[in-house]
Amino acid sequence: AIDNLKTLKSGKLRISVASTANYFSANLLAAFLKQNPNVHVSLNVTNREQLLKDLKSNDCDLLIMGKPPTDIDVQAKPFMGNPLVVIAPPDHPLGLEKGIPLDRIAEESMVIRELGSGTRFAIERFFHVNKLALNVGAEMSATEAIKQAVSAGLYLGIVSRHSIEQELETGRLIELDVRGMPITRHWYLVHRKDKKLTPIAQSFRDFLFEQTAVQSIAAEEL
Ligand code: PGA
Repeated sequence: AIDNLKTLKSGKLRISVASTANYFSANLLAAFLKQNPNVHVSLNVTNREQLLKDLKSNDCDLLIMGKPPTDIDVQAKPFMGNPLVVIAPPDHPLGLEKGIPLDRIAEESMVIRELGSGTRFAIERFFHVNKLALNVGAEMSATEAIKQAVSAGLYLGIVSRHSIEQELETGRLIELDVRGMPITRHWYLVHRKDKKLTPIAQSFRDFLFEQTAVQSIAAEEL
C-alpha cells in the first residue's frame, strides 16, 4: 500500500469533518499531502447536523464523524477513540478530588456545544442515561470558545480530549477525575454506500487506516 501511496496522484479530495475531529484531521491530511503533493484538498469543518446534510446531498468524498447515521445507507468504519472529558480551570476546587460522582458535576454550571453538535448529543444522552440533568450555563458553537470560557473560570465544560492536548501541557486547563468518565466515543470514516470513491479518496482512506486503526468497538456508542 505504501508503494501505492507514493505514485503521484492529482485531482481533488473533498472531505467534511466534525469540528472536534479537526484537531487531528489537519495533521493526517498534511501527512497525506506530503506524499501526494498534486492533490488539491477541500476540507469542510462543521458539526454533525451539517455533516448529515452533506451526506444526504452527496456533496463530499469522505466524512470523519462520530456515531454514523442509521437512516442513510453508509459505509462506516471506526478508526480512533474520542474520549469526552470534563475540563476545569486549574484552580478549581474539584481539581484535587479523585472519583468525583457525576451528580456533583451536574450541580456545576456547564458550557456545552450548540444544538446539532454530535458532542452535545453524546453529553446529553450520557447524563440522561445516568438520570441526571445538565445545568447548562451557556452554549457555544466552537470548542475553542468553550475552552476559553472554562479557562476564564466561568463554567465547567465537556470536550474531546483531543482538543485540549496543548492546554493540559501548559496547565491552562485541567481534566477532572469523574467516576464513569470519559464518555467513550469513536471517530468513523464514512461515505455513502452508493458512492464510487475516486482513486484519491481510496488512497486517503487506506492512508488513514494505516496511520490509526482501533481493534474493536466494545460498547454501544452514544
Ligand atoms: P461535533 O462532532 O460535536 O463537532 O458535531 C461530531 C461528533 O462527534 O459526532
